[in-house]
Amino acid sequence: MIMKNYVFKGNICYSESREELCITENGYAVCEDGRCAGVYDTLPKEYETLPCYNYEDKIIIPGLVDLHVHAPQYAFRGMGMDLELIDWLNTHTFVEEARYGDLEYAGEAYDIFAEDLKNSATTRACIFATIHTQATLLLMEKLEETGIKAYVGKVNMDRNSPEYLCEESAEKSEKDTEEWLLKSQGFKNIKPVLTPRFTPSCTDELLERLSGLQKKYGLPVQSHLSENLDEIDWVKELCPGTSHYGETYDRYGLFGNSCPTIMAHCVHCGEEETELMRRQGVFIAHCPESNANLSSGVAPVKRYLEKGMKVGLGTDVAAGSSLSVFKAMALAVQCSKLRWRLYDQSVVPLTMEEVFFMATKGGGEFFGNVGSFEEGYEFDAVVLDDSMLRHPRKLSAKERLERLIYLADERCIAAKFVDGQVIFRES
Ligand code: GUN
Ligand code: FE
Repeated sequence: MIMKNYVFKGNICYSESREELCITENGYAVCEDGRCAGVYDTLPKEYETLPCYNYEDKIIIPGLVDLHVHAPQYAFRGMGMDLELIDWLNTHTFVEEARYGDLEYAGEAYDIFAEDLKNSATTRACIFATIHTQATLLLMEKLEETGIKAYVGKVNMDRNSPEYLCEESAEKSEKDTEEWLLKSQGFKNIKPVLTPRFTPSCTDELLERLSGLQKKYGLPVQSHLSENLDEIDWVKELCPGTSHYGETYDRYGLFGNSCPTIMAHCVHCGEEETELMRRQGVFIAHCPESNANLSSGVAPVKRYLEKGMKVGLGTDVAAGSSLSVFKAMALAVQCSKLRWRLYDQSVVPLTMEEVFFMATKGGGEFFGNVGSFEEGYEFDAVVLDDSMLRHPRKLSAKERLERLIYLADERCIAAKFVDGQVIFRES
């Protein structure tokens, strides 16, 4: 049996809200049956008999959540960054994704992706695969073995796509998707998510058919929204009669409410679209590196947070070059500062507390009670060793956490736990 009752000792940091960062230096976090049973300065008597992982002076945070990443694109990260969205998709992305029709290639590429994700600080992720059913199942198998919890989507696309990466018809796309759904019921950690690529790639008929599957199986949905200005103009042309991009999903019931939904980017959402997302509880995956690399713009994330909307962070590999959610946090702050200074003084920059919240509890909410050490939260934890980031004086835990957001890499990750289970730990 795998042990799910124990105590962590160390410097424990987590968010209660976007303003409130809770830090207990030299404290205790208790895991009972895989759930957090509180954080304490002094360990209550009732827990004294539990085994203790003594992480001494290390920093302990909830696992990081990547709300938007494309597994097949990991193979070309850091390459082909000189184009904007539509040209980038046609020139680089679709060409690479087509290779996943070859299961041998998919196996090699997904081994690398799964291993690197396992070794990262990410404990939960929402992942796009490709249109290929077999390769998507293979990705799910490989991710299942890592112990990470993730949603994975077989991508749907039946128009405006090159012949070599376009589904035969809406009917065939639906049929393949249902077959994939039925074959993906056996996983413990990995769940399916409906994944219409974005409106330009999906006919009305396809979205209607996917809406049927969503209702039949009660599935969540992930897609892209209002990322790039030319894309938005294109959607207007493709969908006459809709008043905004969000409506192209909403008219098929694929936009929040009873359909848990993540929309990546939301860089250029208008007021009506924003208000609909807020009302219907649509999650926004903010992907700052991707938005910089593809010259998409900078999303007004602070405004979304102030409106009480649901916001998490995404790496959006390969438009983003890195799987590191630490990097996404730092870039979210940096991009928000440039947006404010150069473009719109009405939206002030993000704070360190806010990006840490988005990377943990903000995105974690999509998975339930995830992303915090508050009582009852699933025990996802990452232990950070910053001893190699040498410093001449003793820093506070808050200073060290802030520094890790900017400086952490894999060398700093000493242990990772998901839902109370160990993924890896040093020694
Ligand atoms: N919109 C549709 N497909 C994609 C994709 O693969 N990456 C990004 N960044 N945007 C998209
Ligand atoms: Fe994306």
